[in-house]
Amino acid sequence: MGMLGWLHRRGLEMKGLITMDDLTNEDILSILDDAARLLPVARGETYLPLLEGKILGNLFFEPSTRTRMSFETAMKRLGGDVVNLGDVKTSSVVKGETLFDTIQMVDGYTDIIAMRHPRQGAARYAQDAARVPILNGGDGAGHHPTQTMLDLFTILQSHGTLEGLSVVLAGDLRYGRTVHSLSHALVRFGCKLILASPELLRMPAEIIEDLREHGADVLETEDLLGNINDADVVYMTRIQKERFADEDEYTKVAGAYKLHARDVANVKAEMIIMHPLPRVDEIHPSVDSTRHARYFEQAFNGVVARMALLCRLLNIEVPAEIQGGEA
Ligand code: CP
Repeated sequence: MGMLGWLHRRGLEMKGLITMDDLTNEDILSILDDAARLLPVARGETYLPLLEGKILGNLFFEPSTRTRMSFETAMKRLGGDVVNLGDVKTSSVVKGETLFDTIQMVDGYTDIIAMRHPRQGAARYAQDAARVPILNGGDGAGHHPTQTMLDLFTILQSHGTLEGLSVVLAGDLRYGRTVHSLSHALVRFGCKLILASPELLRMPAEIIEDLREHGADVLETEDLLGNINDADVVYMTRIQKERFADEDEYTKVAGAYKLHARDVANVKAEMIIMHPLPRVDEIHPSVDSTRHARYFEQAFNGVVARMALLCRLLNIEVPAEIQGGEA
């Protein structure tokens, strides 16, 4: 690319997705609407090369299966290409290259970057260093907004609305970045939140404050099973062992909640059970065959939600009608 092209890219001031504050409720609904129309493309029933010629940089400084692979699938289903940092141990990060320099390089190789990093705030820092949009695929115990988009898509598919639902968020609310981003989005749609966690893993006070500032109806409790019968959504999370400074502290809360099929005998018929995955022992396999389980469908929805986000951030319009399958 010549200097003029470079300057042109700089002049576009493309914004990424670092937290859910980067999207209005109207943006969210419009992106989810695009995602619904892209379902046949995500399923491989039709090919729609909207992103032909575009390159996604996948920079995962922390392990990932779903986020990394669904970004890659989304890009390829839309005719785009992907370059991966790969295993951090085989990259120049081990030679001491800074995140800032790494981003400066990858910025020149790609049109958009998906990034996961163990340090909270790293995605914001990367966005400040980059000209291309950064999609935050998880920054430490901070945020995971692209996960929230697929979570909202899953809820919308099941309930037909995001408004006024009763949602139980359970497990590791302290370190679980998925619930940090999701809780913020849900209160903006007027949902009631029941936050079920061991005392040690309560939602951080500043997030509770943010939720209440947005008018949230929030109940904090240690009792999961006593709160699921009136819920529309039960969102389970893994205890984030890797975030604990002290192994003894982890041992105190490991296995705090284990949802079994017998526990959902008296829940609402339309209640859905979600989990960002991977699960450890929070959801017993007996739940998988109940009508309430949505977590594998939720993981698939990562492809459509990320397709729609890639198109939006690259300023590519998703057609109003897409042939080739039923949405
Ligand atoms: N839900 C999620 O972020 O999964 P991965 O850690 O496998 O990307």
